[in-house]
Amino acid sequence: MIEVVNLGKYFYTNGKKKVLFEGVSFVLREGDFISLTGESGCGKTTLVKIMAGIETPSEGYVIYDGVRPSFFKDYFVSKFRNKNIGFVFQTFELIESISVIDNVLMPVYLAGASISRYRERAREILRYVGMDEYINSDVKILSGGQKQRVALARALVMNPKYIFADEPTANLDEKNAVEIVKLLERINREMNVGIIFITHRLDVMEFANKLAYIKDGKFFIEDNGKMSLFKGTNEV
Ligand SMILES: Nc1ncnc2c1ncn2[C@@H]1O[C@H](COP(=O)(O)OP(=O)(O)OP(=O)(O)O)[C@@H](O)[C@H]1O
Ligand SMILES: [Mg+2]
Repeated sequence: MIEVVNLGKYFYTNGKKKVLFEGVSFVLREGDFISLTGESGCGKTTLVKIMAGIETPSEGYVIYDGVRPSFFKDYFVSKFRNKNIGFVFQTFELIESISVIDNVLMPVYLAGASISRYRERAREILRYVGMDEYINSDVKILSGGQKQRVALARALVMNPKYIFADEPTANLDEKNAVEIVKLLERINREMNVGIIFITHRLDVMEFANKLAYIKDGKFFIEDNGKMSLFKGTNEV
């Protein structure tokens, strides 16, 4: 469980305080599926980066599985992040010149874990995301939707408890965007991975179980009834 407590982020420009957001409190549990929306520049990426311990808040703090890190904060948070959080980005961030499976194994390599121990796991995850035909292909031949599937496999290879996805559908057409979010939904449901994903798209945010948004520096979160807009699209 990742608990966000009274987070605020401020900037000072020419001595003037600018509040990006303040008083943000909520919980991301394993099994949660949260969409995060809000106008460009409202602080969505910043909030998710603070949760991942990549940026520091101006006030408030984050509790990781019941621990509020104080001493050895950076060490603790980076260890938590490497073990528990998989990341997906708008621009996929794959290495084009190496194969699909080598991209998926990159977090294993970076963690200094045994590549041979994870090779079967990487194949299994690539099958899960529907990319089994492309296991040994170069990334550069893939479409955007296929690249994002590979990026999802990479995020999952080390068995994270959470996925943080910053606009994973922004570079995809409508059909692929919906497919990627349906895949996120399946991962959430079948693997009990807690997901927070940023999006500007009304059609894909509706797949989430909780809808979060930032408006005028304030944070809101509500349960998604999952009824009106896309009734019938969630094959539960
Ligand atoms: N060092 C800084 N000093 C002042 N303002 C900053 C600084 N760093 C970031 N900002 C401001 O914070 C905001 C960035 O927020 P962030 O990138 O989290 O927004 P976002 O909601 O993810 O936007 P988008 O939808 O465009 O990705 C910007 O408005 C930027 O001007
Ligand atoms: Mg952003």
